[in-house]
Amino acid sequence: MSDPLDLEALIGPGALGYFAGGAGSEITLRDNLASWSRYALHPRVLVDVSERDLGTTLLGRYRPHPVVVAPMAYQKHAHEVGELGTAEAAARTESLYVLSSQTTTSPPDVARAMEAVAPGSDRWFQLYVFRDRAVSHDLVVQARESGYEALVITVDFPVAGWRERDRRTGFTVEHPVALNPSGPPLTTEQLFAMHDPSLTWDDIGEFADAAGMPVVLKGILRPDDAERAVDSGAAGIIVSNHGGRQLDTTLSGIDALVPIAQAVGGSVDLLVDGGVTRGWDVAKALALGADAVLIGRHLLWGLARGGAQGAEDVLRQVLAELDSTLALLGCPAAADLDASYVGPRAVG
Ligand SMILES: Cc1cc2nc3c(=O)[nH]c(=O)nc-3n(C[C@H](O)[C@H](O)[C@H](O)COP(=O)(O)O)c2cc1C
Repeated sequence: MSDPLDLEALIGPGALGYFAGGAGSEITLRDNLASWSRYALHPRVLVDVSERDLGTTLLGRYRPHPVVVAPMAYQKHAHEVGELGTAEAAARTESLYVLSSQTTTSPPDVARAMEAVAPGSDRWFQLYVFRDRAVSHDLVVQARESGYEALVITVDFPVAGWRERDRRTGFTVEHPVALNPSGPPLTTEQLFAMHDPSLTWDDIGEFADAAGMPVVLKGILRPDDAERAVDSGAAGIIVSNHGGRQLDTTLSGIDALVPIAQAVGGSVDLLVDGGVTRGWDVAKALALGADAVLIGRHLLWGLARGGAQGAEDVLRQVLAELDSTLALLGCPAAADLDASYVGPRAVG
């Protein structure tokens, strides 16, 4: 087959469609990947780059690098180790880990696994607000009690995107610990129907008050929503189109970041995702105003291929590429990347 990783043979057509697919005609899914090459890097020469620092600051704390593991649901369908694999990879590479609320491993189990690898490792918890609010509140308590540092509330999922691959394959999900720990497998449509489509800014305030930890809003693409997020007390914003899985033909994350950074940059932490596969993508995001970058599917393919080690290999490669990019750009500190290092690429 044409796929060199033969992922379909590895995880089956249903899981592959779920993980790889996007919404609608998948225009945004493809554009997320293409968008990074619309920006060109502008290297500066004759700078001493013998010492390099990939570090960034998030929620007021220094982090050794800006690469974050994106929250992704149902990871046991990619590899039997599931979330424990990506979480251990994050702990081994000092990467901030974001656990999905549609996890197939409980938040305390993930926390224990990370602590066993690297005491003090960084993790945030991603929250979907379900129609059954008690399920969401219970998840927040579990997360807080097991040392998750921030609550990432995903705000771009009032209903599921129009996902034709799942409709075709009829993919069913097992073991989402919060929603259906021991029940029969559910279709993604049944699971997504549990999301609360009536969620508004008022509810965000209520969850933020009850969270007892900083709140980051994930899935913002408009500057006016970014301003509203800041006004509502969010400590961070993740500029994201959900990996092209929600509304087709939106802006890519990196294209949406630029006006959002102009509107709220400096007053809140800004993260971006969508189609990140390379260290130079990360450098472009930082130069355009992001403080950190989330990686989704690129890491999942590492997990599917090689469990925790496969995911770790992916993270290590992206970090090595970022290090090399800083040297070649003549900007030895990632925190010093600014708009002078990037511009639009001439098309032609
Ligand atoms: C299989 C899969 C499951 C996902 N599950 C969640 C989720 O549970 N919560 C969430 O906020 N985002 C979820 N996302 C979106 C990711 O957090 C992230 O925004 C996106 O994958 C980034 O794009 P990339 O995959 O091109 O890197 C999921 C993405 C994928 C591919």
